[in-house]
Amino acid sequence: MLLKRSPDLKYSDVTPRQVYLGRRKFLYGMGLTGGLALAGKTLANIVDPSVRAYASTKLDGVIKGPFSTDEKVTPEKAVTTYNNFYEFGTEKSDPAKNSGKFQTSPWSVSVEGEVGKPRKFTMDEILKLAPLEERIYRHRCVEAWSIVVPWVGYSFSTLAKLVEPTPSARFVAFESYFDPKQMPLWRYAGIQLPYVEGLRLDEAMHPLALLCVGMYDETLPNQDGAPVRMTIPWKYGFKSIKSLVKIKFVKDQPPTTWNISNAHEYGFYSNVNPKVDHPRWTQAREVRLPGFFKNTPTQMFNGYGDQVASLYNGMDLKKNF
Ligand code: MTE
Repeated sequence: MLLKRSPDLKYSDVTPRQVYLGRRKFLYGMGLTGGLALAGKTLANIVDPSVRAYASTKLDGVIKGPFSTDEKVTPEKAVTTYNNFYEFGTEKSDPAKNSGKFQTSPWSVSVEGEVGKPRKFTMDEILKLAPLEERIYRHRCVEAWSIVVPWVGYSFSTLAKLVEPTPSARFVAFESYFDPKQMPLWRYAGIQLPYVEGLRLDEAMHPLALLCVGMYDETLPNQDGAPVRMTIPWKYGFKSIKSLVKIKFVKDQPPTTWNISNAHEYGFYSNVNPKVDHPRWTQAREVRLPGFFKNTPTQMFNGYGDQVASLYNGMDLKKNF
């Protein structure tokens, strides 16, 4: 069922965060927020509404999506201050500090390659292609930290079907925005930019693969990949490419950033697998942020095995790591 979204609401029309944060602060001061405390918001955000000092905006009409975990949602502050986004620095705290002025509007994503109907989608179009769903996914980084995030978006397959992939399309190649002027720390990234990623077509078309435009009910903060990113919950976090500008349907397996950088440590598939250690550390356990200890057992396919294991029937997952 397709819910109708307001046809004339533009990406730039949604209430600016500063405005509604100001409103929330005012209500907070008046002692009126109790009843307004949004489900899933962390105590930190309710106690101190200013913890999120970045410019994102409320997304309207977000519905509850499928596949959400009922695990405890990670405090938003932990999610938005501990990031990998090498274009803005290699320390976990760098993206939050250095991406504030990143221009994400206007924005468009070009979809090309082995498709019957190549086209460019503006951000407004992307926001209106389908009802926006909240999906609370586990997100497990190869460096062994994990978070639980209420992402907002819809299945990537919704967009893919519109461009009509041809029978020769076997993989999907993704590319991030790259602008050395806006990302001066790129010199120290130590990886080839623009950041590129890829999925097999059947992985990309799996309903869990999320085209993600927001988190915690709002547009994505810059450090988390504004304005649109992928979120692939059964794979290590580096497959979840941020600030997407190009999607290309291709015949052959595309190059991927971390595999180019160090093929011995980072494979193409990168499915979360507690039985295949990283050459330098165990993948059997993880640190659930904002904690410190690697004491949470990691699950095969990050706990999404029931949905995705069949994609890899007959494959040796030690070889295809
Ligand atoms: N996308 C781009 N463009 N640049 C990056 O450096 N880092 C990847 C991935 N997407 C990265 C990227 C890695 S290594 C991880 S673990 C996740 O983003 C981190 O996502 P998060 O910061 O939202 O947790």
